[in-house]
Amino acid sequence: MPDRVLVTREIPDAGLRPLESFDVTVLHERPPERDELLDAARGISAILATATEKIDAEVMDATGEGLRIIANMAVGYDNVDIEAALDRGVVVTNTPGVLDETTADVAFMLLLAASRRLGEGERLLRAGLWEWWGPKQLMGQDVWGKKLGVVGFGRIGQSVARRARGFGMDILYHNRSRKPEAEAEFDARRMDLDELLEAADFISIHTPLTDETQHLIGTPELEKMKPEAVLVNTSRGPVVDEAALADALENGQIFAAGLDVYEDEPAVYPKLLELENVVLAPHIGSASVETREKMAALAAENIVAVLSGEEPKTPVNG
Ligand code: NAP
Ligand code: GLV
Repeated sequence: MPDRVLVTREIPDAGLRPLESFDVTVLHERPPERDELLDAARGISAILATATEKIDAEVMDATGEGLRIIANMAVGYDNVDIEAALDRGVVVTNTPGVLDETTADVAFMLLLAASRRLGEGERLLRAGLWEWWGPKQLMGQDVWGKKLGVVGFGRIGQSVARRARGFGMDILYHNRSRKPEAEAEFDARRMDLDELLEAADFISIHTPLTDETQHLIGTPELEKMKPEAVLVNTSRGPVVDEAALADALENGQIFAAGLDVYEDEPAVYPKLLELENVVLAPHIGSASVETREKMAALAAENIVAVLSGEEPKTPVNG
């Protein structure tokens, strides 16, 4: 009997082809309901999940005894209970490296769009309210030559820094560990978070979501930023306190923000939807054809490896 693999969402074919020798169940395009996920998990040896599914002890136990791998089709794995997986001897894998440039493109897109008021301008134009070119109309903040503060100077944070260097920007960073090679490559300076928040014109967040990074940016941090500052978050929603951010944007405490991720996706904090000075994207950081194919293929290759008794390519729990 071939091993049974559960794929929780419809994924690109590049992720299904490597699984052809297994008994594969693909749920559907939308995220499964909790009960449906628990039902579908019965008798499963491998779960290919996405960041929208919470894979906790209950889901693992619903599989019975045979679960061997949870392959997350995302680099972030805050949706998976790593301790519970370790306790049960289940391997967890993610998809690092294949989505860095694509996600950095979205971070930089949000940075440019928020600083140059693209969303506001497009809304004006589409509403038929653009009456003339105006000498004081839609004045934004220059990006060229400014200071970018990267919070979380890992793979994606460094890919954003690479783009910023092309815009003549100085790179400041805050990271748990020092990154000497990246410092040399980007002429980047490591700082305490508070120091970075005071010095940077643009702040782009790229940490994972962990107990330490939950609400890393809240009212006290927003108060330290310059009134011209632009905040970009493509990491995970709960890293930024959305209510505090909405207040800071409303009060002009910072100039603008660009968000790809939200605290309670797909819900967005209602006040953010009302504000002109925030650009909102629906978690599309890695959403290019090429990158989603690579993510799906890597997740599937990890499953093939583990079910064949080999080491997975990209384990997160050793
Ligand atoms: P990564 O290479 O692991 O980089 C994360 C960096 O954050 C590391 O350098 C890490 O430091 C640092 N860090 C961790 N905790 C910290 C803390 N408490 N304070 C300061 N720095 C801390 O990860 P990545 O591949 O760049 O991905 C980053 C995150 O982006 C993912 O976890 C995911 O949540 C998010 N993401 C979102 C999208 C999207 O669609 N919007 C797409 C891809 C990824 P150390 O090096 O010292 O560990
Ligand atoms: C997407 O959000 C990811 O973590 O890959």
